[in-house]
Amino acid sequence: MTTRILTGITTTGTPHLGNYAGAIRPAIVASRDPHADSFYFLADYHALIKCDDPERIQRSRLEIAATWLACGLDAEKTTFYRQSDIPEITELTWLLTCVTAKGLLNRAHAYKASVDKNLEVGEDPDAGVTMGLFSYPVLMAADILMFNANKVPVGRDQIQHVEMARDIGQRFNHLFGRGSEFFTLPEAVVEAEVATLPGLDGRKMSKSYDNTIPLFGSARQLKDAIARIITDSREPGEPKDPDSSHLFTLYQAFATPEQLAGFRADLLAGLAWGEAKQRLLQLLENELGEARERYQTLIARPLDLEDILQAGAAKARKIATPFLGELREAIGLRSFRSDVHSQAASGRKKAAKAARFVSFRETDGRFRFRFLAADGEELLLSRPFDDPKAVGRISQRLIALGPDALELRADEGAQFSLWLDGECMADSPVYADPDALEAAMLRLREAIAGLAD
Ligand code: TRP
Repeated sequence: MTTRILTGITTTGTPHLGNYAGAIRPAIVASRDPHADSFYFLADYHALIKCDDPERIQRSRLEIAATWLACGLDAEKTTFYRQSDIPEITELTWLLTCVTAKGLLNRAHAYKASVDKNLEVGEDPDAGVTMGLFSYPVLMAADILMFNANKVPVGRDQIQHVEMARDIGQRFNHLFGRGSEFFTLPEAVVEAEVATLPGLDGRKMSKSYDNTIPLFGSARQLKDAIARIITDSREPGEPKDPDSSHLFTLYQAFATPEQLAGFRADLLAGLAWGEAKQRLLQLLENELGEARERYQTLIARPLDLEDILQAGAAKARKIATPFLGELREAIGLRSFRSDVHSQAASGRKKAAKAARFVSFRETDGRFRFRFLAADGEELLLSRPFDDPKAVGRISQRLIALGPDALELRADEGAQFSLWLDGECMADSPVYADPDALEAAMLRLREAIAGLAD
């Protein structure tokens, strides 16, 4: 059993060390599991929601694609693509939008936060809120549902969005699934052990705090960033407390247990902060030095990157294109050609299979019907009725009753009659023996059953 793992990386900004430890590294490790079928993509449509600077969007897509490959993502084994290269995603977004309750999206954290901020400063609640921001969870649901992902590794802030994808998928299944499920309902996975790295100032490393360590900056930039890590003012030789030092926490995210134990002991023994920073720099160089070279090679060859991503998109569309075709069928966006085919097919079926009631008028002005099997064999001849509409009513009642509730009475083994509400309605032909009569009753029941569906 393989598990399909899918996650998106919003392409705003340049990856930093926190992204690497918190998302990139664990995702690449997970993708190497032989039971994993990994889909990783650049969520560049999502990026448009937050950013209207085309240069920045473009640059970030390039940098993030190069980062993942440089860090060891295997684009052959996984499916690695840009969201915007899969037009099926936007189409699915609309199909899902049409089954998504607005009230569901009103509750989305990102939207609510914007509204709350507006209210605080006395603005219109929706000031500055685009439909992109409001509908963000539907686009994300399309990303996930399109590929029937089982597991979606995300940060805590995204759990709600994955749950919304479940709700939306379930609603679509319910409306159009007819017993079969179109969408797998995804599960959010939040890695408990994954490090949330502190930034230079000890708060969570984040672009918005301007406290990041660049992942693939030059060696010089890395050194400068580490020099800016805030420490306490203990002098060289004074014991340092590893557990209250975020420099130590940073070191921990990349060290082996032995390295970490050695570092702790040295800090307790009075290692100077300058030395400690030098050790962290060395550790990061070992972890990232080679990847940085690969990164620089990749960034310098955008055409190669383009080829890799196009191959990924082709792989993803092999799934997305036929699947979207099925969904369009299900909701009633079908070629008229397919209607003609299915009408012709069902017409043929009826002509070939159906039994029928044929009514006629006797010379005395009264009405009767014959019930004929599909092959034209007469199964019943009705008693006469004064009301011409009785024929239609009776045939409808018989079909509605179904084969098992028909009241058939056999007399002396030669003929049977059909009764309804205590009245004899019709008689069979006369048969040669009881076996032939039994068989004819069975044919009658089958013929009625055939009309019911
Ligand atoms: N919204 C996610 C984030 O900001 C990125 C994302 C877009 C995503 N589509 C996704 C994550 C689908 C998981 C699955 O982190």
